[in-house]
Amino acid sequence: MSAVQLSQIRKSYAGVDVLKSVDISVEDREFMVFVGPSGCGKSTLLRTVAGLELSDSGRVLIGGEDVTEVEPSQRGVAMVFQSYALYPHMSVFENIAFGLRMMKLPEAKIRERVEAAARVLQIEALLERRPRALSGGQRQRVAIGRSIVREPKVFLFDEPLSNLDAALRVQMRLELIKLHRQLDATMIYVTHDQTEAMTMADRIVVLNHGRVEQVGSPLELYREPCNRFVAGFIGSPKMNFLDVPLQRADGAGVTVGLPGGGSLTLPFTADGLQSGAKLVLGIRPEHLVEGAGGSCDAVLDAEISVVEHLGSETLLHARLANDVTIQAKGSGESLVANGERIALGLNVRHAHLFREDGAALTRRAGAFGNQAAA
Ligand SMILES: Nc1ncnc2c1ncn2[C@@H]1O[C@H](COP(=O)(O)OP(=O)(O)OP(=O)(O)O)[C@@H](O)[C@H]1O
Ligand SMILES: [Mg+2]
Repeated sequence: MSAVQLSQIRKSYAGVDVLKSVDISVEDREFMVFVGPSGCGKSTLLRTVAGLELSDSGRVLIGGEDVTEVEPSQRGVAMVFQSYALYPHMSVFENIAFGLRMMKLPEAKIRERVEAAARVLQIEALLERRPRALSGGQRQRVAIGRSIVREPKVFLFDEPLSNLDAALRVQMRLELIKLHRQLDATMIYVTHDQTEAMTMADRIVVLNHGRVEQVGSPLELYREPCNRFVAGFIGSPKMNFLDVPLQRADGAGVTVGLPGGGSLTLPFTADGLQSGAKLVLGIRPEHLVEGAGGSCDAVLDAEISVVEHLGSETLLHARLANDVTIQAKGSGESLVANGERIALGLNVRHAHLFREDGAALTRRAGAFGNQAAA
């Protein structure tokens, strides 16, 4: 069992609170990703699990055992950093074996573990080379090899791919997913890249200013973000946010005014909303329908300002009434041109509503049918 539990972790540097009572439970053999903007406390939190950082208060449990006071080397964790220093004068084999030699393992055991790790990472042919004769991706694999041979209960990765170019990052991402399956180990992976988080994680923890905003599977966070921060952070391109005044909140749902006129009733619960409240409508670019079809609940009148042809899809940057900007994803064959006026359709099934303080309104269970009143 190697579940990881963090409870009420607080940390401050020179009076600045960097971690503000963080509670996270990582299950045994889970691939958990901590994601959030730069400076939100991801590395500090991971280093707290590793024991490289001592929190001001709170407990760290690994495999049910309280390790808060336990030395890093005794925690059964291995950490891979963004900038991994390989020893330049040692072969790949010796770089991977280094930690095991320090542990004074017998030579045969060392060879067995290094060769097994090299097989998993597909670097068997490189074991006699020096690091300078390796590509960036191969060096990264050596760094991961060093952690594998230690047979840790928990792997900790701090942005291990961010020094690699885009293509290699995608490839290493897949390899880490396979590695997780193969080793069947608990892994905690830190990144500021939401795509990495979405593609790799069993579950994601979204952090912001030292606080947990939401924990959930990639699709839970995508479909049901609990607040505007998570909604804007998960998904690419970002969700559009439109200020929409509340017109009515009743048994039919929540009715808001749309930019450019018209109103829309959305299937959300109205509890506690005061009339005149400022609300924010969230709609992802991929959920805006170019040309607006029959199944759309509302239509936004937009003027195209920039068209980006990406091949498989087209990204449309447009302006609504009152100079509100919006992005929509069109098909790769989209023929719209700059300056053109188009209709962008939206469906309430894919719409989100947030209060002024950012909290998401609750969607009514099973409520999907809805019509716009123009
Ligand atoms: N030793 C330190 N002394 C003072 N402040 C620190 C120290 N280490 C980290 N911080 C501050 O704590 C905050 C969180 O840092 P942390 O490195 O955990 O962020 P992060 O989420 O990993 O960011 P990034 O994505 O840029 O790596 C930052 O504001 C940082 O400046
Ligand atoms: Mg960091």
